[in-house]
Amino acid sequence: MITYSRLKVAHIRHLKAGYVLLTLLYDNQMTPPQPGQFFMLKPRNTIIARPISVHNFFSVLKKNYIEFLFKVVGRGTEELSDMKKGDMLPVWGPIGNSFPIPEDKRTAVLIAGGRGIAPLFFLATRLFEKKYEIHFFYGVKNSDELIHLLRIKNLSTKLYISTEDGKKGKKGFVTNLFQDAVGNYSSQVKENLLFDYEGKKSPVCYVCGPDIMIEKVCDISLTGRIKTYISLESHLACGTGVCLGCTVETRGGRLLHICKEGPVFDAEEFYCK
Ligand SMILES: Cc1cc2nc3c(=O)[nH]c(=O)nc-3n(C[C@H](O)[C@H](O)[C@H](O)COP(=O)(O)OP(=O)(O)OC[C@H]3O[C@@H](n4cnc5c(N)ncnc54)[C@H](O)[C@@H]3O)c2cc1C
Ligand code: FES
Repeated sequence: MITYSRLKVAHIRHLKAGYVLLTLLYDNQMTPPQPGQFFMLKPRNTIIARPISVHNFFSVLKKNYIEFLFKVVGRGTEELSDMKKGDMLPVWGPIGNSFPIPEDKRTAVLIAGGRGIAPLFFLATRLFEKKYEIHFFYGVKNSDELIHLLRIKNLSTKLYISTEDGKKGKKGFVTNLFQDAVGNYSSQVKENLLFDYEGKKSPVCYVCGPDIMIEKVCDISLTGRIKTYISLESHLACGTGVCLGCTVETRGGRLLHICKEGPVFDAEEFYCK
């Protein structure tokens, strides 16, 4: 259920490359968030609140905390980045659906581009708790944009890094790394049916990042017949299904709202192979 509240800033950390990690003391009257869901965060001096995905949710000494990871790109995020410990932040959420997690323990392939790491990190923590095998693909433009590398490494069975500046991991796009890996998966199919699409052990893919990256990943994953879930972004105004500002059209011509039916969608709604 979406609830409005004012949450206290417990901690704020300015990371590299304009990223900010904002930790808020959670209001226990609010529904606990699931990976993929987001909140509207309302900076004091902007009329419209900003949508930010849940990056983490955890308890310490019987208190619940929610964490947001965002990149400063404009006025709203700039103002959020200026918050101080003890400030109160108006928020509403949790909003939207969440990443479906299959009951059977199939390999989870997470593919994050840039700030797409925000929701996928939370998903990885949940998959790790449930003992899923996690193959994490993480690509950024510049190596200083790689966030939480050690923590992601600890959560992942296998971690693949790409940077466009080539200073860390493989130089180039994360989609190239993924393409190579899917090639490997296919050869394993022949050997042991590990990634047989119809079988229970086929992997499931979760993607978040720039639209062009999502499109390319889906091209690869759907060609490899891998079940794929994508998390979409757009400009959101109300976050509650009222303003219709976040409408996207599916392949079949259906109009869906990112804030209501999303932000997580089955990739086959938008892409096909
Ligand atoms: C469901 C959802 C979840 C999100 N989760 C995160 C998150 O976890 N971390 C994070 O850093 N960001 C996230 N975003 C994006 C974030 O909401 C925007 O960056 C933020 O609203 C920008 O506000 P601003 O006032 O700082 O910038 P503005 O002044 O509003 O915009 C600055 C620049 O960013 C562009 N922009 C703004 N919003 C978007 C958008 N949604 N898509 C593409 N371009 C945009 C504008 O066109 C402009 O060029 C999410 C967006 C959505 C829809
Ligand atoms: S943001 Fe208003 S309907 Fe989705």
